[in-house]
Amino acid sequence: MDGDNVAEVVFSTLAGGTASSWSGTTCTVKCHGSAAIGGAKSTPIWTQVDGSQAACGSCHGAPPPPPHPTNSDCASCHPTMEEGSLTFRDPASHINGVVDVTTPGATGGCTSCHGSTNSAPPKDLAGNTAATARGVGAHQAHLATSTWHNPVTCTNCHVVPLTADAPGHRDGDNVAEVVFDTMNPLGVYTAGTTTCSTNYCHGNGRGGNGTISWVTPGALACGKCHSINGTGMSGQHRRHIVSENMKCSGCHADVVNAAMTIVNPLLHINGVHEVKMANGTFNATTRACSNTCCHGTERW
Ligand code: HEC
Ligand code: HEC
Ligand code: HEC
Ligand code: HEC
Ligand code: HEC
Ligand code: HEC
Repeated sequence: MDGDNVAEVVFSTLAGGTASSWSGTTCTVKCHGSAAIGGAKSTPIWTQVDGSQAACGSCHGAPPPPPHPTNSDCASCHPTMEEGSLTFRDPASHINGVVDVTTPGATGGCTSCHGSTNSAPPKDLAGNTAATARGVGAHQAHLATSTWHNPVTCTNCHVVPLTADAPGHRDGDNVAEVVFDTMNPLGVYTAGTTTCSTNYCHGNGRGGNGTISWVTPGALACGKCHSINGTGMSGQHRRHIVSENMKCSGCHADVVNAAMTIVNPLLHINGVHEVKMANGTFNATTRACSNTCCHGTERW
């Protein structure tokens, strides 16, 4: 009884302590979320008791806006929720001061917002799993263990965060930054058309080679990036392949066999031209062959 007949409102630590406030009409308090996480009525009016301030969306969005994943299957990440609905499996864990999130072990919790078998989509941030969805695209086609190309990792196309809160990671628009590493210094990803252009990896070994779609699944034939008939290839390719009927394996034996099967994926699309003949050597600096069985020293 301090004499004014007005009760003191003192918020507990759980409710936000001194960071929370009471104006005489409305509260600004941790339990009611905030506009920043999509709460439409996060400063509730004490005398309005019609249930509207207890509906989903009044304290936080359902789901909250980016950088939270734009995926409404709450239960896939929040163990407190029932599958496919907005009802609680465990109401006691709601508004208890702890955000309960499922964090599958193997990848350090990275797969709770995107990814499944690894941290790359599918699923994407919106829960899509089809390769035709922009957020999913050709991720797994690149990342899967390959029989024909050098391994591709996240760092070839993104700056990879060490933690979910690393600077530059969740920057608020839920659109990933595609930043190519030194393997593709001239590579450009155009989000509007979901295509890559002037990539080393999809080029002909000398430069870029048109554009390629990120969202059109399908195997790539050998002639898709570089020629296999000599056209547009460096030096004396055409002459050897067409006039002399030589196979690629005649000069690239470390990489390919006579049946056009890649024999060492680590050496294919690794940024280096490997030349290996049965006899003789190629000097990459002078670009000349010597001691071949076929002819004397010749420049390529
Ligand atoms: C793909 C995973 C995923 C889905 C689906 C998901 N969430 Fe979340 N949510 C998270 C993660 C991870 C966090 C904690 C990290 C953060 O702060 O964003 C979180 C945090 C939250 C928070 C706390 C926000 C804050 O900043 O205090 C709320 C509220 C929330 N989610 C509600 C929902 C609701 C409601 C749904 C369904 C309509 C939902 N979430 C669906 C992953 C998800
Ligand atoms: C009175 C405000 C309020 C309302 C209304 C509300 N929430 Fe929340 N919700 C919170 C707060 C605050 C959190 C932050 C984490 C915590 O304290 O549990 C949260 C967290 C969550 C989370 C993250 C998982 C967790 O429990 O920590 C989900 C999912 C969620 N709410 C779903 C819902 C759904 C679905 C509804 C509607 C049925 C709803 N919320 C209505 C305040 C509210
Ligand atoms: C070959 C290049 C490439 C590789 C490798 C790659 N990404 Fe991506 N990533 C992309 C492209 C392209 C997009 C789509 C960007 C857009 O248009 O929004 C993308 C988008 C994403 C998104 C956003 C998904 C969404 O919902 O919008 C995440 C998350 C992501 N990548 C994570 C990863 C992780 C983690 C790895 C490694 C495990 C990885 N990526 C490897 C090219 C790549
Ligand atoms: C709380 C949700 C959440 C968690 C957990 C999370 N990410 Fe992300 N991640 C995102 C969002 C959102 C984006 C889209 C980036 C943006 O908005 O700029 C993203 C994008 C990415 C990208 C694409 C590059 C970029 O920054 O745009 C990579 C790579 C990535 N995440 C890797 C990881 C790794 C590795 C982990 C675990 C250490 C992880 N993520 C954990 C939400 C999350
Ligand atoms: C007579 C030997 C010879 C034959 C046969 C040959 N190559 Fe080459 N190839 C070379 C040499 C030498 C280089 C290195 C050029 C350099 O680095 O300056 C090279 C380089 C390349 C490159 C890098 C880009 C370029 O044009 O220089 C590609 C791609 C390539 N070869 C593919 C093939 C394929 C595919 C075949 C079969 C269809 C083939 N090569 C047949 C000798 C040959
Ligand atoms: C995604 C684009 C792409 C596809 C598809 C592709 N290549 Fe290549 N290939 C390259 C690039 C780029 C090089 C340049 C050298 C390097 O980085 O290994 C190359 C180089 C080569 C070379 C020269 C040796 C070397 O690696 O230096 C041979 C031989 C070759 N490719 C054969 C093949 C065969 C056979 C196939 C089909 C099984 C094939 N390529 C499919 C991109 C591709």
